[in-house]
Amino acid sequence: MFYEPGRTTHGLPRDPFKSCVVPRPIGWISTVSRENVHNLAPFSQFQNLTFDPPYVMFAANQTTRGRRKDTVVNTEATGEFVWNMATYELREAVNKSAEEVPPEVDEFEISGVTKEPSRLVKPCRVAESPIHFECLYHQTIRLPGNGTMGTVDIVIGRVIGIHIKEEMIGADGRIDILKIRPIARLGYHDYTSVESTFQMIIPGNDPRRLAGMEGSAQF
Ligand SMILES: Cc1cc2nc3c(=O)[nH]c(=O)nc-3n(C[C@H](O)[C@H](O)[C@H](O)COP(=O)(O)O)c2cc1C
Repeated sequence: MFYEPGRTTHGLPRDPFKSCVVPRPIGWISTVSRENVHNLAPFSQFQNLTFDPPYVMFAANQTTRGRRKDTVVNTEATGEFVWNMATYELREAVNKSAEEVPPEVDEFEISGVTKEPSRLVKPCRVAESPIHFECLYHQTIRLPGNGTMGTVDIVIGRVIGIHIKEEMIGADGRIDILKIRPIARLGYHDYTSVESTFQMIIPGNDPRRLAGMEGSAQF
């Protein structure tokens, strides 16, 4: 099949686009408002952009009422956010934190997770999550879109602090991803979690390229 988004119909009962870019890691983002209300929300339009220094982004569409999401408002107002890793064990809390509630509601409370202070920024971390990035706001790129929710704010932040729970680091010094079991979004209302891994090394053994694959640009 072939279709041109916005121009011709895909002819399917549901829009297939989000099911094509999978799996998408979840940016479970905590912020705090100027009024000191703690906010938490998941964004599957999330990625690391680069690694040395590390930058991440999340893309927040407008609300169903055509307003900017609280996460974006708070990040721009305070200049800080925290990324928390979403795991299979925390899946219900992740889902609850997506409820659209007024900015004066503490979303750690409605999600039933514990606030843990960050070291370098004001937004709290989700204590139950195994990995956190403390981030400084860098820039917002706004893309125009269709309908109330179409417009999207792409928020970029620089990672200035990384927490990894000791028990999630294996004897070989690597993060034990199978123990953590991160979740990721598929299309529709479907999710997946990491339950297997495999390894491949780029042929040629160029040490600079291999270092880059592992996350270092300073060879
Ligand atoms: C797993 C998951 C992923 C989501 N991904 C996005 C996303 O990428 N962009 C977005 O705008 N909303 C996304 N949402 C919806 C937001 O989490 C929801 O609108 C939330 O209320 C925003 O909260 P805030 O207003 O406190 O920022 C997602 C929801 C779930 C459950």
